[in-house]
Amino acid sequence: MKDSWSRRGGRADGSKISGEEPVIQESSGFQATGVPGGTASDAGSHDAEDAEATRRDASPAESTRASRGWWDRNADEYQSEHGAFLGDDRFVWGPEGLDEEDARLLGPAGALAGRDVLEIGAGAAQCSRWLAAQGARPVALDLSHRQLQHALRIGAPFPLVEADASVLPFADGSFDLACSAYGAIPFVADPGQVLREVRRVLRPGGRFVFSVTHPIRWAFPDEPGPEGLSVASSYFDRTPYVEQDERGRAVYVEHHRTLGDRVRDVVGAGFRLTDLVEPEWPVWNDSDWGGWSPLRGALIPGTAVFVCDRD
Ligand SMILES: C[S@@+](CC[C@H](N)C(=O)[O-])C[C@H]1O[C@@H](n2cnc3c(N)ncnc32)[C@H](O)[C@@H]1O
Repeated sequence: MKDSWSRRGGRADGSKISGEEPVIQESSGFQATGVPGGTASDAGSHDAEDAEATRRDASPAESTRASRGWWDRNADEYQSEHGAFLGDDRFVWGPEGLDEEDARLLGPAGALAGRDVLEIGAGAAQCSRWLAAQGARPVALDLSHRQLQHALRIGAPFPLVEADASVLPFADGSFDLACSAYGAIPFVADPGQVLREVRRVLRPGGRFVFSVTHPIRWAFPDEPGPEGLSVASSYFDRTPYVEQDERGRAVYVEHHRTLGDRVRDVVGAGFRLTDLVEPEWPVWNDSDWGGWSPLRGALIPGTAVFVCDRD
């Protein structure tokens, strides 16, 4: 397993979120687009625990299909295991616990009121809930229906849109700001396409802030202990991490980009890179999250947060 803020969730135990099954409503005023690459059931019926982990190419369509299937099957476990850390209405950038309340990467306190903000790969939309509490007008987008059902379960007094971040169903210049905490970008084969789409839907003067696994982590085993401290593969090997079923169909995909690749993706999409934040592991955080741990966090960065401005 490679370390995304996702697969690092641990073993599925079949546990389910209790309560009534929520239904995604179409009251947002936004039309959800079709998602290229087929349906969730096309993605393979096996959980990742049964899958074989390998490094091989994965096309954009295969990656999208695998992500939707994996997140639909694993959203319950993800939210039940990590919901407390994420908080129902906190905006956390990664396993280190860097909180937008303190970091203010989207803008200073008070500057979010009245702003249209798009959250990409929102999951249960915890970040959007925090944005709404600041007076912003968030729209939470995710590929996974089940993740968005969790957003409804917690409560989402803002639009939820089920769509692929590579094909945003919004008109040009619809938003003042966009954000993504480990959403979509680590999982797509063409992150440049997502960045171009985000730039298109932002107004001039807009900002996009997104976090991903720090690229250096790809050179190390995805283990929280000392075994995760020795280089095991080439940082320069961009071959995707793929889990596939017995028929060779991808059920989970992550794509590696080096730091330089990420900078080129941002600049190539027409953004100005204003900051690159590498959150340090804080003393208060004693929790592991998959391969992220206090031990490794004290020595190597685990998350990279890109602050991108649209002039
Ligand atoms: C690691 S979770 C992060 C969710 C949330 N931001 C959080 O912090 O908990 C990644 C999310 O990205 C979504 N995702 C993956 N690929 C996507 C795509 N192509 N378009 C939109 N969302 C995608 C997944 O469904 C999942 O909810």
